Parts: sequence; C-alpha cells; structure tokens
Amino acid sequence: MLTDAAEMLKKAYEGKYAIGQFNINNLEWTKAILEVAQEKKSAVILGVSEGAARYMGGFNAVKKMVEGLDQDLNITVPVAVHLDHGTYEGAKKAIDAGFTSIMFDGSSLPIDENIEKTKEIIEICHSKGISVEAEVGGIGGEEDGVISAGELADPKECKEVASLGVDFLAAGIGNIHGVYPKDWKGLSFDRLSEIRAEIGDIPMVLHGGTGIPEDQVKKAIEKGVSKININTECQIVFTEATRKYFEEGKDKVAKGFDPRKVLKPGFEAIKDKVREKMEFFGCINSAE
Ligand code: 13P
Repeated sequence: MLTDAAEMLKKAYEGKYAIGQFNINNLEWTKAILEVAQEKKSAVILGVSEGAARYMGGFNAVKKMVEGLDQDLNITVPVAVHLDHGTYEGAKKAIDAGFTSIMFDGSSLPIDENIEKTKEIIEICHSKGISVEAEVGGIGGEEDGVISAGELADPKECKEVASLGVDFLAAGIGNIHGVYPKDWKGLSFDRLSEIRAEIGDIPMVLHGGTGIPEDQVKKAIEKGVSKININTECQIVFTEATRKYFEEGKDKVAKGFDPRKVLKPGFEAIKDKVREKMEFFGCINSAE
C-alpha cells in the first residue's frame, strides 16, 4: 500500500523502533524488499537516489514499477517510495512523478539557502500529502559522486531546519555512507542527544546504516532515530551471491544462463539481509 512516510515514522518514534529505508536498483531489489516487508508485517521505505532513478529509466518508471509490484504482490503493509539525497531540481521531478516521500539534501549549501529551499520543497510536498526529510551536516563518504567530509551537525542549525516543518530529519552524527573504515570512531551519542534536545519530537534518520554495530543501532533507536538507511550492504550480498553462482559454474549447467536463474541467489541474499536488518530495527509485526 503506497503511502507517505510521515505516519509510519511517527509510529516508529513513539514505539521506539526504526523503519528501514532500503535503496533499490532494479526490479529484483524492489520485489525482494517488498516481499520481506509483507512477510515480516512491517512498513518499509524504498530509497531511490537520483543516480538509481536514472539507471532505471527515470522517476516515472520507478514510481510505476513500485506501484505495479505493490498491486500485483498484494502488499498490504505501508510502502513509501522516497527520493534519497535529492537535489532541488531532482526533488521537483520526483514530486511530479508521484513519489510519496522526498529527501531534499541541502546539506552542502550555505545554511540560509538550505533553509530557503527546504521551506519551498516542504510547501509543495505538504500540499500534496508527500512527506519530507531534510539534512543538516553532511554524511561522510561518497554517494552518487557527492562527497561529504562527514560532520557532526550543528544542533542549532538542526533546530532551525526542523522547525520549518520537516517530517523527519537527517543529521550527521559521525555516520558515513559505504563500508566503515577500520579506524571509524563510531556514532557520537553526545551529539545525537544535543540535537534531540533542540528539535523536540521529530523522528531522526540515520544514513550510512551499512555496518553500524548492532549495539550502536539499538542505542540510536532508543534516542529517537526512527529511520535507518541501508544501501551498500544489500549491494555487497547481492554481488557475493552472484559471484558464487558463476564460480560454481552454475551458469554452465542446463539452462543456468537464464537471467531468472542467474539473479535468483542475489535476490535471495537481499531478502535475507532485509530480514536481518528488520530484526535489528525492531519493526517486525509493527504494521499488524
Ligand atoms: P549505506 O550505503 O552506507 O548503507 O548508506 C545508505 C544511505 O544512507 C542512503 O541514503
């Protein structure tokens, strides 16, 4: 059931669990995540970066694919189709294509411009029932060619952006996209508490969910993180499972070259990863 993400995250915030945002790349990814969400009776957010949308043909293709799968697979749990790290122009295109949730990432802009543009996107989105995520303080690592140094967000800036009426807020607390370096210092729970003290009861978003140890994930959820983004981990398990298929020569046996067979192990690996993450996040059965 396609919906915006505001209500599901409000519920998660109140119930002290988190909803997963799993980024999608194609039909297999989307189907795997939707099937697990239904099986585990949890709401889910499908994250779509502008690069991934381009790869799949465009925002309209993505929206219609998700809508079609949602209908054909009889998905009854809430599903949001969410623009991940949208630019101002990208956000407008995704809104026009019918995305149900938008992240406007103005974290690389001067704060005044971030505030002005976030405000405009919120106005457009809220008039259409679309939820909005904004970001303060870059998330480290590289995503779609955008590199951020990985900041600890300024709590006062978080307050300013949160008070514009965003539905959920992403703020840098030492998290990084991609695989964490060996000398990573971990999440800054002090900064998380300082931000929380400024923004009141707005659900927070943790980007760079790949590889954050379970105890840190749980602590973050306790402190009001209600949405956790996972991308790289699904890519890694998909590729590992696919590599194994070829290494075992399965493509050479009978009709093993059939793409539906080739993509199956990766598809199953994504499903297992999403199940594992949902356990961590505490969202299982939350949509019952
Ligand atoms: P990872 O790729 O580190 O899981 O981060 C995903 C993310 O934050 C998407 O916005």
